[in-house]
Amino acid sequence: MTGNFQKLIIDTDAGVDDAIAIMMALAHPTTDVIAITTVNGNVDVEKVTSNVAHTLDLFETDVPIYRGCSHPLIADPVHSDGIHGSDGLGGITASLSLGERLVETEAASLALVRLAKQHAGQFTLVALGPLTNLAVAVRLDPGFVHNVKRLVLMGGAVEARGNASPAAEFNIYADPEAAAIVFGAGFPDLWMLSWEATLSHPVPWSDYDELAQLKTRRADFFRKITSHTATLLREDYGYPGFLIPDPLAAAVALNPDLIIDAQQLPVSVEIVGEHGRGLTSVDWFQQSGKPASTHIVQQLDMRQVVEMLHQTIAG
Ligand code: RIB
Ligand code: CA
Repeated sequence: MTGNFQKLIIDTDAGVDDAIAIMMALAHPTTDVIAITTVNGNVDVEKVTSNVAHTLDLFETDVPIYRGCSHPLIADPVHSDGIHGSDGLGGITASLSLGERLVETEAASLALVRLAKQHAGQFTLVALGPLTNLAVAVRLDPGFVHNVKRLVLMGGAVEARGNASPAAEFNIYADPEAAAIVFGAGFPDLWMLSWEATLSHPVPWSDYDELAQLKTRRADFFRKITSHTATLLREDYGYPGFLIPDPLAAAVALNPDLIIDAQQLPVSVEIVGEHGRGLTSVDWFQQSGKPASTHIVQQLDMRQVVEMLHQTIAG
């Protein structure tokens, strides 16, 4: 697909919410997903790669999949299968057969570097998992950062309300060294969708129920992969709605007009400390003298986001 489409590359640790974000991108009428790269995160990278293939099988698409880092740069792997299920897709993979889709042989970080050169300044990179692949790409090619027109990432806890530790959000906590490299690399147009933004922008349960009850193959997939997480959030934790961290990042990448408020500030990543490792330290009063290079998304038009989800799942 060419023409005046927006080109997108998605790096993911799919994951239930990642799968929904990928569906949104593939269903978006003016977006051309040129590649998907996978990384260890919610589950191991083999399962992540298989989960991406299952998600792509819902669409008539030949988007290439590149397998990425199986471990963080230094830390031992951590997973979040308590939320996403042991397969990373809410348990649905036991009932699915994989299509004929082949995974590319080129490693994800090498593909990121190559594709960034090929599409220099013309694509948005959406990072939905730990930033290991991106950090390796930054180190492999000094020009990578400037070849990426825009980087939108889901990650971080801007007020230190962590979900993986008291201070750290999972994607950063899983590989703080990689995150420190990425946040310090000088990406020219970096947008951050934090855990706090996720908490303040739930999908109301009435909208979730409507999406889950649509009569489409995608709705059936959506309902099955989210069922375990929805029960946890709704019945165990009593949240006012379904949390969609990665789909919010996808929505920002696909339609920046739905951003109502954002602040551009310096953000650093803590890599040491018993309590603070993985903290995304936001210089709210700009005392550090560091460049205010990160756009922290603070408010989104959730009606537009829910409409995007509806168009994706009803499609
Ligand atoms: O903290 C939420 C993030 O961690 C999401 O990207 C989710 O998929 C997990 O990777
Ligand atoms: Ca994710």
